[in-house]
Amino acid sequence: MSLLLKDKIAVVTGSTRGIGFAIAREFAENNSATTIVCSRLKEKAQEAINQIGGRVFAAEIDVADDASVKKFMDQTLSKHGRIDVLVNNAGYPFDSHIWYKRFHDVTEEEIHKIIEVDLKGSVRLSRAVICSMLQKSASKAKEGGVIINISSTPAIAGHIYGAPYTIVKAANIALTKCIAMEYGSSNIRAYTLALGNIATLATYDSMTEAERNIAALEPSMKRWGKPEEVAKIAASIASDNFAYATGNTIVIDGGTVLW
Ligand SMILES: NC(=O)c1ccc[n+]([C@@H]2O[C@H](COP(=O)([O-])OP(=O)(O)OC[C@H]3O[C@@H](n4cnc5c(N)ncnc54)[C@H](OP(=O)(O)O)[C@@H]3O)[C@@H](O)[C@H]2O)c1
Repeated sequence: MSLLLKDKIAVVTGSTRGIGFAIAREFAENNSATTIVCSRLKEKAQEAINQIGGRVFAAEIDVADDASVKKFMDQTLSKHGRIDVLVNNAGYPFDSHIWYKRFHDVTEEEIHKIIEVDLKGSVRLSRAVICSMLQKSASKAKEGGVIINISSTPAIAGHIYGAPYTIVKAANIALTKCIAMEYGSSNIRAYTLALGNIATLATYDSMTEAERNIAALEPSMKRWGKPEEVAKIAASIASDNFAYATGNTIVIDGGTVLW
């Protein structure tokens, strides 16, 4: 076991499956973090922690709901005292109906649903967590913390489909930069992971064979990425190895978007 995140308390939203689950497992099992696995349903989070070794706790949070975020923060801080690492992974589910719709045909309601989770959810929780990190910094010689926002490569390079998702994921890159600039002096670091095609239930498992093959051919590596590959990078940047880098966007896409 590596000790990269030893003594850190980490929160990963939407971590009962897919990329979030892999990050939570990597943090807890391989890097010694105390890890809080989150779901909108406590029972799902409970099921997930039963599959992860190390110090893991289950928590309920709906990032689209102010009251739920407040309750989560109150419970987490009273139980664990602080949050050192936040991964804003929760995302509105991939919906092929919205993804393939022409931008001018997407409804207000569809756009609103994605903004509420992927953008406002990350903003809501980041603000609450930063507030707690600042209190920690004031009392403990600038310990600060790390916030990782999960974005996507279309937010950098554009994409012919999925405009509502892309617009919101681009805003997450701006969220990272704002946090990095405003709170660097309090030792709060922020990063964006811009993901390409990562095989999860929401993507790979919901596609036809033909769609999967087309996606596999996009990157220079000619394959899908694995959630575990994202998780290893997340653990590295959350650790003190990245102590003097902040605001960065790290592209994880097997070599599709080079910038
Ligand atoms: N897979 C890819 O190729 C890819 C590419 C680019 C970006 N991404 C991004 O990576 C992240 C994870 O993707 P994934 O493929 O692992 O997706 P996923 O399987 O759909 O997982 C997303 C998780 O978000 C949680 N969630 C949804 N709405 C929520 C809300 N209102 N409050 C709290 N949690 C909520 C869900 O957990 P519960 O149901 O348990 O609450 C769900 O498990 C997403 O932000 C996605 O946009 C993925």
